[in-house]
Amino acid sequence: MDLSLFHDAHRLGWQAAQLASPNPPVGAVIEDPAGAVVGRGYTQRPGGAHAEVMALQQAGDRARGGRAIVTLEPCNHTGRTGPCAEALIRAGIRRVDFLFADPNPVAEGGAATLRAAGVEVIGSYLPHPTGRSVQLPAWTEMYSVEPWLISMAEQRPHVALKIASTVDGRVAAVDKTSQWITGEEARIAAHRDRTRRDAILVGTGTIAADNPRLTARDGNGEPFAEELQPLRVVMGTSEVPADARVFSAPGEGLHLQTRDVHEVLDELWKRDVRTLLVEGGSRVAAAFVSAGVVDEVQYYAAPAVLGAGVASIRNSDDSLGQTIGDIRRFVPRELEVFGSDVRWTMTAPQRTP
Ligand SMILES: NC(=O)c1ccc[n+]([C@@H]2O[C@H](COP(=O)([O-])OP(=O)(O)OC[C@H]3O[C@@H](n4cnc5c(N)ncnc54)[C@H](OP(=O)(O)O)[C@@H]3O)[C@@H](O)[C@H]2O)c1
Repeated sequence: MDLSLFHDAHRLGWQAAQLASPNPPVGAVIEDPAGAVVGRGYTQRPGGAHAEVMALQQAGDRARGGRAIVTLEPCNHTGRTGPCAEALIRAGIRRVDFLFADPNPVAEGGAATLRAAGVEVIGSYLPHPTGRSVQLPAWTEMYSVEPWLISMAEQRPHVALKIASTVDGRVAAVDKTSQWITGEEARIAAHRDRTRRDAILVGTGTIAADNPRLTARDGNGEPFAEELQPLRVVMGTSEVPADARVFSAPGEGLHLQTRDVHEVLDELWKRDVRTLLVEGGSRVAAAFVSAGVVDEVQYYAAPAVLGAGVASIRNSDDSLGQTIGDIRRFVPRELEVFGSDVRWTMTAPQRTP
């Protein structure tokens, strides 16, 4: 199984993250019969073209007799756009390789339609990320369509927990003087990551301590375009002042006056949120881990020691376990270096039947 085939397609898929939501962020590459790349595409906003159609448009006639490489099984249904399976057949594509099968009962069946038209179809290369017995390989980078697939399987937003801490696991100084633990490169990466999520969440404690904007900004501190701004959510029963920076433009701020993680996820799911980035603070982080809903951890580590300070995860009600038997382990996926910091991406182990 040669997963490098999908490298380009899955990179393109990241560009569709948030933009395509609640549809899957798919990436597609078209090769001509000689194997040269002649088209690249990713899913546009809902109602816009899907990845395959974008890539086919770029390829034009050069697609005839060629191959499509797609991160998700081509769709088979006529929603706001026509079925991608038929677009591939019309374009004369000879072979389709796809990474994951489409679990959505409305859209599935693209592979069967393609095969019935005589197209060679190879997929799924990988089992569904919540598959029962097979795990995604450790130390392989996250596939761009993975969070969406998990949200579909769980029928709730995919949850990524972001932590930026020192070697001694501190996320803030006691006197609240430290807004950023990591350096500039890691901050830029963290802001870029925000643009990929439908929503970003903190607790009322972080609002009170830091009054953060939570917008996604570039290296100069300028906010990215409004369409790249995630919905900003605050959870907790305390009042949040109407002039808190989280409610300022661009983008939208929302206060959910609850401590119930599942209530928050239900509410966000109803608002078509498929991917949620929990940015802390430490009590809210503990609540999500203890509810067993953390699908991914983005752990930024700075080569520094703070000594006294706020722990990255503060287990105030002991619900996170007292003994080694209760340890929660994650699967390592990626380790990236940003300046003098590292970002370690890990995912939840497969759920067992
Ligand atoms: N380095 C980083 O990555 C990072 C990121 C974020 C924050 N921080 C730091 O973290 C510190 C804040 O931590 P924190 O623990 O005080 O803030 P927090 O986790 O943001 O907020 C805690 C508050 O959230 C509310 N809440 C909502 N749901 C809850 C639940 N299920 N369980 C418990 N509480 C819940 C509670 O207030 P109510 O009474 O309103 O319900 C609670 O007091 C700040 O110093 C900030 O700088 C660091």
